[in-house]
Amino acid sequence: MATVHPHLDTQSRAEEFLALDERYSAHNYHPLPVVIAEAEGAWMTDVDGRRYLDFLAGYSALNFGHRHPDLIAAATEQLGRLTLTSRAFHHDQLGPFCRELAELTGTDRVLPMNSGAEAVESAIKIARKWAYQVKGVPENQAEIIVAGSNFHGRTTTIVSFSTDPEARAEFGPYTPGFTVTSYGDASSVEAAISERTAAVLVEPIQGEAGVIVPPADYLPRLRRACDEHGALLICDEIQSGLARTGELLASAHDGVRADLYTLGKALGGGILPVSAVVGRDDVIGVLQPGQHGSTFGGNPLAAAVGRAVIRLLSTGEFQQRSRELGAHLHERLAGLSGVAEVRGRGLWAGVEIAPGGPTGRQASEALMAGGVLCKETQATTLRIAPPLTITRDDLDTGIDAIAEVLAK
Ligand SMILES: Cc1ncc(COP(=O)(O)O)c(C=O)c1O
Repeated sequence: MATVHPHLDTQSRAEEFLALDERYSAHNYHPLPVVIAEAEGAWMTDVDGRRYLDFLAGYSALNFGHRHPDLIAAATEQLGRLTLTSRAFHHDQLGPFCRELAELTGTDRVLPMNSGAEAVESAIKIARKWAYQVKGVPENQAEIIVAGSNFHGRTTTIVSFSTDPEARAEFGPYTPGFTVTSYGDASSVEAAISERTAAVLVEPIQGEAGVIVPPADYLPRLRRACDEHGALLICDEIQSGLARTGELLASAHDGVRADLYTLGKALGGGILPVSAVVGRDDVIGVLQPGQHGSTFGGNPLAAAVGRAVIRLLSTGEFQQRSRELGAHLHERLAGLSGVAEVRGRGLWAGVEIAPGGPTGRQASEALMAGGVLCKETQATTLRIAPPLTITRDDLDTGIDAIAEVLAK
């Protein structure tokens, strides 16, 4: 096949690093055998000098591409002043970060954390405390309704309500208090919701499950059911949010406002882990000193990078790029032979490979050989999520490579 780059005919240095990873790193991932050393924008370079187009963008953690100059400048400036205080003291980045993130998302209050899973755990804790203190659910009886094929992270509580046997098996005993419903089927939530329901927790688009977009009435009906039963709607926008789908928040496509949102990934600008729970004052306000925390959550460096991310998002430029380039991406992918279905919104697509074609893993490896990096999610689905900064020409280069791999 035509390659994006002529592969260098030199002794590979990659083997050495692959062997070290294999020997010393826990085997909890199955990465493609490529060893990246540098990156800029939508392009990465491996240890042998080969260039690859990034069609994954760190699972949306790199929405602004690698080393966006505004983000690197903000991080560098903050590195020269103050990096960490712990939350034992105030610092001059936290308040501005929280105000700016609240204003951007149209919410009242912000709980800064680090990883996505921590943000989800925090939202669960807030919802439970709110249920006991405000809703009046009897102690230890609060329920949280979730959706099948969810992905919210890897902690023991979160995998307790995963329906993926690989993610869940042999990590018990499991945390109780979760009811699993069918994703996209609002009636399954309407049937499960009760006076004991603290919250409904849902991804507006399921990323890991294969970029699954629910029916248009799903989120609005969940919103209505929550309102009717005095429960909170929590939208996990860790992968779908921050311009990935063409809106700041993917739930906005369906005209729905949540009571709490979890944000992560791109909030750290591809530089460091930054996550947050954002939402209603009277809900996040249930947390009092000593009841929740994190040594690193909201640290000065994270807050400074987060503020630079917020500045990028506040122009709307990236949302617009995602809409325009996303329309082009979806139109082209849908016309490819070897493709059974294309799902998603904006610059985010789940490409279902037609029966008889390669597996998702085989397709990812063939794309890698041709200089395009993406990754399968589920056995026959390719997840496409280029940086929102990608040029139309580069986007076409990647789509051409996918066309060649799937046409074989
Ligand atoms: C929707 C969603 N929630 C939570 C997480 C967990 O985030 P992290 O890996 O930062 O813990 C992810 C990660 O892929 C995600 O896609």
